[in-house]
Parts: sequence; structure tokens; C-alpha cells
Amino acid sequence: MNVAVITGASSGMGMEFARQMDKGFKKIDEFWLIARRGEKLKALADELAHRCRVFAMDVTDKGAMDELEKTLFEKNAVVRMLINCAGYGVMGPFRKPDRQRTLGMIRLNCEALTDMTYRLLPFMAANSRIIQLASSAAFMPQPDFAVYAASKAYVHSFSRALGEELAPQGIYVTSVCPGPVDTPFFDIAEKDGTTLSVKKLAMVEPQRVVAQALRDSYLRRPVSVCTVIIKAFYVTTKAIPHGMLLKAVSALKKI
Ligand SMILES: NC(=O)c1ccc[n+]([C@@H]2O[C@H](COP(=O)([O-])OP(=O)(O)OC[C@H]3O[C@@H](n4cnc5c(N)ncnc54)[C@H](OP(=O)(O)O)[C@@H]3O)[C@@H](O)[C@H]2O)c1
Repeated sequence: MNVAVITGASSGMGMEFARQMDKGFKKIDEFWLIARRGEKLKALADELAHRCRVFAMDVTDKGAMDELEKTLFEKNAVVRMLINCAGYGVMGPFRKPDRQRTLGMIRLNCEALTDMTYRLLPFMAANSRIIQLASSAAFMPQPDFAVYAASKAYVHSFSRALGEELAPQGIYVTSVCPGPVDTPFFDIAEKDGTTLSVKKLAMVEPQRVVAQALRDSYLRRPVSVCTVIIKAFYVTTKAIPHGMLLKAVSALKKI
């Protein structure tokens, strides 16, 4: 049985991946939708034409991950797509947010994403795809978003290296690096602070980011960057030393 596994499917970009993939991907027998809010996943499953299996689980929970792995074995599943969207961000000065929220972010964005990839890889075959939600925050260090940006730098680096390792087996990895996307992400992220308001000028709809990511994954591209502004940011962070950029950002904050 061919399956597509989508984490973070109860909201934002994960939900959008499921909706857009539902219009094609005829060779996928089941969508496996993962997030903690089961009622949201069930509502999504009812809306989709594909057969869906709902996993209302916390991906940082080892027991739940063991169960997921067991189901993969039992159903003789071949994972054609793994899309790791589950993640959150916490803005504000390093010491302001609650320590557990900060550490939980590392556990979810880095550890759980790695664990999911590790456990599902044996169920993949030639022509399978992995899509990892990194962020443009991965491109350079971000004061007042320090741990989140570091967690996404991890995802980006991990995904690019893994892509090189897996390409000879015909498994292709795409690191998706959007700027601000209009999803409920900010309800959590802005609890303890905000980053540069100028960033919000680059806000895009999830539909656009996801369509681009699916296209880039199909074309076996290792990195997916959606808009001209974020592409320009990507190039800038490669061309100019980060020390200089950090000084410029600090100056901008004082204006
Ligand atoms: N929005 C942006 O501006 C932006 C920009 C760049 C990158 N990203 C990244 O894109 C990804 C998706 O974000 P989004 O914008 O779609 O945010 P979102 O709407 O808040 O979605 C986050 C998803 O993660 C799930 N989740 C959170 N903790 C979980 C856990 N412990 N176990 C299982 N699922 C969990 C949530 O579902 P439950 O609460 O139901 O568990 C939700 O479905 C994230 O990795 C984010 O860092 C977002």
C-alpha cells in the first residue's frame, strides 16, 4: 500500500499539503494525517477524496511513534511521501519565553523531525520523496528568534546532507524555506514577543508555498524558496558575512 505521511496536518501548511495533493497523487492509496488535534484531522479526512488514516498523536511521544512504526509494518506500507510540517516557533528575547516552550521547540522541530525521518526511511523506495519544513530563518542567525532560527538551520542542514546521501537510492529530499506564511503559526510564535515588523511585508499565503514545494519536490530540487523577496534574502545571506548583516538588523530595530 502506497502512503503519504503528513505531520502537522491539522493546520496551516500541513493541511494545505493534504488538500493540494488530494487533487493529484492518484497512486497514493492512503494519506496518513498526523497531529495532536484529532478532531481537526478527522474533519480534513472527511473533506478529502483520498482514503485517510488519522493519527491523533504527539510526535515527540516515543510510545506514539512506536505505534506508528508498528502500523507501517502491519499495513505493509510503502511511504511515497513524508512531509514533516509539525513545528512551532517562539519569538522574543532568549530568556523571556518559558524555558519548557523553548526546549520543547527543539524537541519538536529537530528531534521529532529526525526521529520521524529515521523511522520512516526503511519504508521508502526508489522515487519516494521527503519534504522537510525548514524556514528562511535557517539562512542566518536571528536575534529575538534565536532558538527557532537555530532549529531551522538544523533542519535545513540535515535535509541537504540527507538528500545527498539518499539521491543514489532514488529518494529525494527537499528543504522548504519560506519567509512569513499566513497560518496560525503566529498565534503561538508571538506570545512572548515579535521580530522585525518589516518581515511581515513579505507574508504569503500557504497555498503558494505548498504549490512551489510540491513542484520543487517533483523536480528533485534540494531547496524550495518561494518568493522573489525571500530568494533575494537567501542570496544576500550567502554573499554578505553574517556579522555585518546582524549589525544591520540591530540598526534597523533602533529606527
Ligand atoms: N508560518 C510561517 O510563517 C512559517 C514560516 C517558515 C516555516 N514555517 C514552518 O512550517 C511548519 C508548519 O507551520 P505552519 O505555519 O503550518 O504552522 P501551524 O499552522 O501552527 O501548524 C503547526 C502544526 O504542527 C502541529 N504540531 C505542533 N506540535 C505538535 C506535536 N507535538 N505533535 C504533532 N503535531 C504537532 C500542529 O498540530 P496540533 O496542534 O494539532 O498538534 C499543527 O498542525 C512549521 O515547522 C514551521 O516552523 C512556518
